Amino acid sequence: MSVKTTAEYVNLLNQAVSREIQVSIQYILQHAKMEKLLRRIIPENILLDKTTYDAVGKFLKEFAIQEMKHAAAIMERIYYLGGSATTKADKPKIGDNLSEFAKNGVKAEEEALILYRKIIEAAGKIGDWETREIFEKIYSEEEQHFFKFQEYTGMRDEVETSEAVPMSEWRKIFTSDYFALLNKAVASEISAIIQYTNQHEKASYLALRVKNTPLEVITESNKAKVVSELLKKIFMAEMEHLEKISERIYLLEGEAVFTPDPLPQVGEDADAFLKLDHEAENNAIVLYRKIIEEAMKRGDTATRRMFEDIVMQEEEHYWNFDDFLK
Ligand SMILES: [Fe+2]
Ligand SMILES: [Fe+2]
Ligand SMILES: [Fe+2]
Ligand SMILES: [Fe+2]
Repeated sequence: MSVKTTAEYVNLLNQAVSREIQVSIQYILQHAKMEKLLRRIIPENILLDKTTYDAVGKFLKEFAIQEMKHAAAIMERIYYLGGSATTKADKPKIGDNLSEFAKNGVKAEEEALILYRKIIEAAGKIGDWETREIFEKIYSEEEQHFFKFQEYTGMRDEVETSEAVPMSEWRKIFTSDYFALLNKAVASEISAIIQYTNQHEKASYLALRVKNTPLEVITESNKAKVVSELLKKIFMAEMEHLEKISERIYLLEGEAVFTPDPLPQVGEDADAFLKLDHEAENNAIVLYRKIIEEAMKRGDTATRRMFEDIVMQEEEHYWNFDDFLK
């Protein structure tokens, strides 16, 4: 290794990973929760409010994707430094209205800026210029996020959320055990997102690793590269799933969970990744079929159709991974 790192240094970088995953989930769930907030806006303000909510919803999704890219860039660097990137996320803080979203955003971004100044300094001290460069780039993006959230901290939309949507017969379909079941899907998507992002970065590192035999160069290196590309594609699909499912939950006046379940697992090499991912997709398919059945029983057509779409894509993922398994 050209740069001499310590466990403490890698740990510092992993703190950055944990908070990048946290904010990515935080912002995508807030983006999804906009659906819920929109349904409560005061009728006379509908145009003004809708424009604001649309604008915030849009940048929250952009930020969420940016943050996951930050997490990925830092994970990749950790693997190149010979460390192991974490799959643990810090706890997201969602909030109940726009100003709370903004305040939680300001707080999260502020924490990032403090941590990244520390990392930039530490990287400079040991001559790890590449890491410093990565964090300087991320730093300026976090600063933009920080300013953006600051603009909305003064929003006075707390009153609106106190007006409950009247209970209808239709709403009785959506009991707490039903939300618990739907939230299992949310937890499983979050788990897949973290697992695939981490593996994608580890695989791209493995693809470059020095090989011992010419045969290994052809088969193993290519495999890691192909798997790495595949994971990237599938990761984006899982992000869409998370968005859709949580949007549905919020629309139905539920609350989405933000912890991954099962715990994401990375594995040692491309073959191990594939085995774990194959299993993850299989578990998702079993769970989603159960949800489809339950939605059908309750007559919740929209949820059923949404999961029918999603399960078809999970099946595709399952076979994608299956193709590479020995
Ligand atoms: Fe970030
Ligand atoms: Fe950020
Ligand atoms: Fe998915
Ligand atoms: Fe999937």
